Amino acid sequence: MNHQAGTRLEFPDGFVWGAATAAYQIEGAPDTDGRGPSIWDTFAHTPGRVANGDTGDVAADHYRRFRTDVAMMAELGLLAYRFSVSWPRIQPGGKGPANQAGLDHYERLVDELVAHGITPVLTLYHWDLPQELEDVGGWGERDTAARFAEYAELVAARLGDRVPAWTTLNEPWCSAFLGYAAGVHAPGRTDPALSLRAAHHLLLAHGAGTEALRAALPAQAQVSITLNLCAVMPGATSPAATNAVRRIDGLGNRLFLDPLFRGHYPADVLRDTERLTDWSFVADGDLAVIATPIDLLGINYYTPTLVDSGPADPAPSPWPGCADVRFVAQPGPATAMGWAIDAQGLRTVVHRVHEEYAPVPLMITENGAAFEDELGADGGVRDHERISYLRDHLAVVHEAIESGVDLRGYFVWSLLDNFEWAYGYAKRFGIVHVDYPTQARTWKDSAHWYRRVIEENGIDIG
Ligand code: FCB
Repeated sequence: MNHQAGTRLEFPDGFVWGAATAAYQIEGAPDTDGRGPSIWDTFAHTPGRVANGDTGDVAADHYRRFRTDVAMMAELGLLAYRFSVSWPRIQPGGKGPANQAGLDHYERLVDELVAHGITPVLTLYHWDLPQELEDVGGWGERDTAARFAEYAELVAARLGDRVPAWTTLNEPWCSAFLGYAAGVHAPGRTDPALSLRAAHHLLLAHGAGTEALRAALPAQAQVSITLNLCAVMPGATSPAATNAVRRIDGLGNRLFLDPLFRGHYPADVLRDTERLTDWSFVADGDLAVIATPIDLLGINYYTPTLVDSGPADPAPSPWPGCADVRFVAQPGPATAMGWAIDAQGLRTVVHRVHEEYAPVPLMITENGAAFEDELGADGGVRDHERISYLRDHLAVVHEAIESGVDLRGYFVWSLLDNFEWAYGYAKRFGIVHVDYPTQARTWKDSAHWYRRVIEENGIDIG
């Protein structure tokens, strides 16, 4: 349905309005309360890995400022806050008993949220693997999945009585392929065969973690995983372009959705990658564990993906075995990341999952944009491009709900400007501006706009 200018779109009662962050991107305090090092500490401290030599050592200093940040979330009217727990704060070396001081911190955060009427939505793994686990093979090792399940159990035992929504992994595609194939994320490996093993062990960790959560959490707790699904489109009308779409859809979407919701890996992906690996790391029973039922699927969406037949960029690729696939720049407006702005990609992704997998309720767990935000002379940040981006994507969310998709909520990425991984602090995704030298928080215009959207439970189009 096309919405005319001037239309007001009301969201259903109970729609969850939230904002998302991740531990390493905002917390700082890397040595506080017994935290151990993670692969992102190591990676960021390795010269040349992160733009401008930035690290998460201070970030948005949220570990110390969480109380004032939660008060700000309440002023924004957030109904829910999606954050991640730093595994090396709970198990500094990735195994063994819990570090109580680490759990205490997240308990204080959760209590503060609940006291302000904000629902905590907890992600267990947003990329900060304890370094000691990487030293013995990281996600390339099957044992890491078992370690993750133990970690999940420790967090659930402490916080299960007050956190209603749990997510095992954030974007396992990124962990596996940006981390172990392209090497642009921690741990910076460039081994395509290893990245496929990592993908399997991440999925296994999700399944084993889900089982551990089920055992430790109250029956009504909700368990989910968050995937960054691709809206893949052909850059040309040719059989070769259609095949390129199949390949990227296979590795980006079906490699995760099929085992999670159908209990098997996609046959074409196994075939396409057989020159790299025989997949013998998949043991009997693994797929049943991976397909352990979940209650909700989180989707992160930023930009569509346009592909054609090769040759691929010669740099190490996050797409193992796809040397014959070329990524095509999409014309038109883009964000400061260079990511094309196209809300229809979100539509494609949501409808595809709904129609082909129709698994469980959906939640948009991340959506947002980086722009060249500047504090104006009047002390404000006029980020109207971000408001348009968010409004257009929310219109798609609304349309999906109207057409029958069970889509329960939306989390803007991000609450605060933060450490944007390999881009460091150069890219600002927050609806709240952070002045890093002073740590001052300033609401951008988008934050004021989002507050009204939440208050009115709707958006005005045009
Ligand atoms: C997603 C990540 C998140 C943030 C956004 C921009 O892939 O989950 O941490 O970096 O991209």
